[in-house]
Amino acid sequence: NWSMDDFINQQIAEIRATVGDKKVLLGLSGGVDSSVVGVLLQRAIGDQLTSIFVDHGLLRKNEANEVMEALGGKFGLNIIKVDAQARFLDKLAGISDPEKKRKIIGNEFIQVFDEEATKLKGIDFLAQGTLYTDIIESGTETAQTIKSHHNVGGLPEDMQFSLIEPLKTLFKDEVRALGEKLGVPHNLVWRQPFPGPGLGIRVLGDITEAKLEIVRDSDAILREEFANRGLDAEVWQYFTVLTGIRSVGVMGDGRTYDYTIAIRAITSVDGMTADFAKLPWDTLEEISRRIVNEVSGINRVVYDITAKPPATVEWE
Ligand code: XMP
Repeated sequence: NWSMDDFINQQIAEIRATVGDKKVLLGLSGGVDSSVVGVLLQRAIGDQLTSIFVDHGLLRKNEANEVMEALGGKFGLNIIKVDAQARFLDKLAGISDPEKKRKIIGNEFIQVFDEEATKLKGIDFLAQGTLYTDIIESGTETAQTIKSHHNVGGLPEDMQFSLIEPLKTLFKDEVRALGEKLGVPHNLVWRQPFPGPGLGIRVLGDITEAKLEIVRDSDAILREEFANRGLDAEVWQYFTVLTGIRSVGVMGDGRTYDYTIAIRAITSVDGMTADFAKLPWDTLEEISRRIVNEVSGINRVVYDITAKPPATVEWE
């Protein structure tokens, strides 16, 4: 006889009993889990919740604004947005090894979060969007940095938080149902998986702001065309990758020597194995045409037709 309403009421009562009149901190990532935790906690304890959203500059086009508007605007969450783009770019300059990039992004993220958290006074609790699956496969590469970090007690010595993890008995589909019930916007609830290092691993090799702009703009076109055709509901994950390949092209009456964008679109049930999506040719044609016309620095678009295994979902 379990219903989502029962779950919500029970969680709210439990959170109130645990928190009392104390304060709670939440790290928002823009993903469904932390968004749902944020809205649930806001319902339970209102202004006793403070959220931190780190913009590392590796988010998709408009993503930071969308999160701020949806959660800060509509639900009135008190969100501290940290504009850390320059810091991340600085640390990443000249680094092309994928694992090094991941490590730098993860470490910098933790540092920025901790710096902000330290500025806040009188916080007793840290809320996290830990799911049941995060617990049974702890250490999975898809767990958000912040989860694994704070779970292993990486906070500064003088910051002792107790954890609040209201989703820890739920699976992903249940979190989505909960999000819908709480009125979290559809695009947040149904967002495709997005890696913690973000576009940092979709610019192959070293990262610059100019390259990030190319991948952001081409990805925005891909997402728009997918949404227009309802493909966003069918395809597990879809994005563009800025390859390091430059090749010869011709535009107008000039020869070009520009970058190649790869499109990755996969069907999957859990991201562990995947097939490339069998997209209609005219869809691919339209996306390719738009990317080459609208994104400067690109003169060629290719479609990745590899399964996982042997390839991975991401290119790095
Ligand atoms: P791969 O590329 O390993 O991706 O086939 C499987 C799923 O994991 C995501 N992914 C990551 N998620 N941090 C994350 O939080 C990462 O470093 C990372 N690398 C890959 C990928 O987007 C896909 O959903």
